[in-house]
Amino acid sequence: MKKKILVSGSSGFIGFHISKFLLEKEFSVVGVDSMNDYYDLNLKKQRLETLKKNKKFKFCHSDLIQFDRLNKIFINEEPDVVIHLAAQAGVRYSKINPKSYIDSNLIVFSNMIENVRKFKTKLIYASSSSVYGGKKKYPFKESDTINPKSFYGLTKKINEDIADFYSKEFNLNIIGLRFFTVYGPFGRPDMAYYKFCQRIKENVPIVLYNQGLMSRDMTYIDDICQGIYKAIINDFSCHQIFNLGNNNPIELAKLISHIENYLDKKAIIKYEDSPDEVKKTYADITKSNELLGYSPKVSFEDGMNNFLNWYKRNFKF
Ligand SMILES: NC(=O)c1ccc[n+]([C@@H]2O[C@H](COP(=O)([O-])OP(=O)(O)OC[C@H]3O[C@@H](n4cnc5c(N)ncnc54)[C@H](O)[C@@H]3O)[C@@H](O)[C@H]2O)c1
Repeated sequence: MKKKILVSGSSGFIGFHISKFLLEKEFSVVGVDSMNDYYDLNLKKQRLETLKKNKKFKFCHSDLIQFDRLNKIFINEEPDVVIHLAAQAGVRYSKINPKSYIDSNLIVFSNMIENVRKFKTKLIYASSSSVYGGKKKYPFKESDTINPKSFYGLTKKINEDIADFYSKEFNLNIIGLRFFTVYGPFGRPDMAYYKFCQRIKENVPIVLYNQGLMSRDMTYIDDICQGIYKAIINDFSCHQIFNLGNNNPIELAKLISHIENYLDKKAIIKYEDSPDEVKKTYADITKSNELLGYSPKVSFEDGMNNFLNWYKRNFKF
């Protein structure tokens, strides 16, 4: 029989896509999400409605900060695997509202891993390229010493440390995935590629930091789903962390000109300095390739066009 997967953050960008991917492979999915309003709630509702069309999908509207609610979900649903994606995302917002990162990234993570310990469930959790901070030695390897620059990155590092300890101490099957700038249809409106598109369309200036000399290892959502799937079907004898990136950083100038060409419109650009912005992210994916069989397939051009086509359809212009 196909496994039952608990996906936390199922109304979020990655949670929605991986739930859909797994349902299409005939897994049962129990989705949990608090439906918070960090960004446009309509987008989360739209994703949820799509998932609800599948009979193998069950949804629990729950804030995972409540340990007892999560515990009940484990008792009632007995998931075989947990994909823990629920978190407060966003690097910059962690300067404005650190408390929401303490709640959703530290307390919620602790609640999740405690249930995983009690029920001996396999856990796959989301970490981030932000754990690498301002490292200037490229590409980033899982074995590198890490020193996050943002509070968000720090919460993800703490998750990794807790996971490492729990897996050794309690002999648990845990995999951490460091995602690198995930993009695609139904994407997150707070992310740069989405905001650039919105701003060019509405003639609003784009603010670029560090003279725009920045690049991100943009990774298309379908490749991320393949990577998560590989983490479900592979087991390891101890806690493992994998980079899920594209090994191909894209300069912001290239990203902007791709959107300009698609929309046939020029961006208005303002330059500002920001010491907080990391100049470049760049994933070494040798380990993910060798141990998981992860191999991203979608080119930047195809992936961005898929996003832009979706954006155009969704906002009817
Ligand atoms: N998208 C990226 O580029 C990226 C990069 C690195 C890491 N990540 C990580 O991947 C995961 C998923 O990211 P995403 O882009 O889908 O973000 P998202 O914000 O779209 O999804 C997160 C979901 O979690 C839910 N959530 C937050 N706090 C909750 C709580 N206390 N209880 C229940 N649900 C809660 C939110 O409502 C949201 O729907 C996050 O852990 C994020 O930190 C994402």
